[in-house]
Amino acid sequence: MKKVYVSMGTDIIHHGHINIIETARKLGEVTVGLMSDEAIASYKRLPLLSYLQRKKIIENIKGVKNVVPQETLDYVPNLRKLKPDYVVHGTDWKTGIQKDVRARVIKTLKEWGGKLVEPEYTNDISSTQLIEQITEIGTTPQIRLRKLRKLLELKQIVRILEAHNGLTGRIIEKIKVIDGENVREFDGMWSSSLTDSASRGKPDIELVDLTSRLQTIDQIFEVTTKPMIVDGDTGGLAEHFVYTVKTLERLGVSAVIIEDKIGPKRNSLFGTDVEQEQDTIENFSQKILAGKKSQVTDDFMIIARIESLILGKGIDDAVKRAKAYIAAGADGVMIHSKDKDPKEVLDFCKEYNKLKNKVPLVAVPTTYGTITEEELIKAGVKIVIYANHLLRSAYPAMVKTSELILKKHRCFEADENCLPIKEVLTLIPGSK
Ligand code: SPV
Ligand code: MG
Repeated sequence: MKKVYVSMGTDIIHHGHINIIETARKLGEVTVGLMSDEAIASYKRLPLLSYLQRKKIIENIKGVKNVVPQETLDYVPNLRKLKPDYVVHGTDWKTGIQKDVRARVIKTLKEWGGKLVEPEYTNDISSTQLIEQITEIGTTPQIRLRKLRKLLELKQIVRILEAHNGLTGRIIEKIKVIDGENVREFDGMWSSSLTDSASRGKPDIELVDLTSRLQTIDQIFEVTTKPMIVDGDTGGLAEHFVYTVKTLERLGVSAVIIEDKIGPKRNSLFGTDVEQEQDTIENFSQKILAGKKSQVTDDFMIIARIESLILGKGIDDAVKRAKAYIAAGADGVMIHSKDKDPKEVLDFCKEYNKLKNKVPLVAVPTTYGTITEEELIKAGVKIVIYANHLLRSAYPAMVKTSELILKKHRCFEADENCLPIKEVLTLIPGSK
């Protein structure tokens, strides 16, 4: 009996996959290399079903003899282990992002005289298409809430971008770039106090109240399915924070980050240029504890934001606070800095990594934006938040357009910087 290898990453089985397996089983005994959850998350998105759930489905397809894990997008490690006579894959990977993977498969098979068999790709269906259709339907609060913990489990770093209205939420939901063999996208959204305030023309001093912040979150949730982390400022009084936690959790927010300052706070990026007071460790720990006690599910996360570096109190103070906040029940720690040089954050990370009861570490590289995600991963950071970039990039474009219209006494010249009318009409699905 010849050995046949088929790799599968999908969690939505359709007739295209069955066509592949039908071809494979005519050639011999079929082993399916089923992508692990980590492999799928690293090159695509979170799998809808877990590895074990997907395994159960694949094992029961007629003609499948074995299912083994494929830990990477690359087939080579499994091929060398199993030395199949045939690999079967649809013709679609001859071009596009998988063409290098294909080339490596052909080269590896040659080592023992194996062959690649490529049945015609089934054109009328794809899992990506099906998943896009499902995400258009929407999500539920519970499913959305849980996604952040799942991402933390499966991804090296969780990539978050600021959203301050439905449109920016849609951008985060949809924008993807192809990077080598991977598709890169944002994993979730940050509801920033700075940009939610600025987009209302208001200062970032805890002036925009919770009810107004909830309106923004609801607007974003109506048109997205990705998880959200909310900037909870100082969290207010512990007696009020317990209600905030319940409300955010009920809506399907995955985490709230509160900073260890005393309100009304000023934005951290002012640093010591304005008067800002840090909370005591005892007080802030009590607030975390009260918040943790008030949440209903185990999924919601309360992340403690340490302002010691912002306020010039140094790394020792930051580490001391990290220990105390973790002991109080914090599910994550955010270290903030307004330095242009990432050094102080990296120095903190070194000390933080020595702690026994570590929780996921969050960084917000607004001022030290030269740091790459790869460097953050190496430092042990698990969540990176790009905290204000959609608002900051939209504002100069809008100012430029306003000035052009004023200068030229007409709108013609402004047009070239604008989204074409045809595109703005169809930008939002359901417009026609
Ligand atoms: C925000 O986005 O509102 C933040 C991060 O709190 S920062 O502006 O850097 O303080
Ligand atoms: Mg803020």
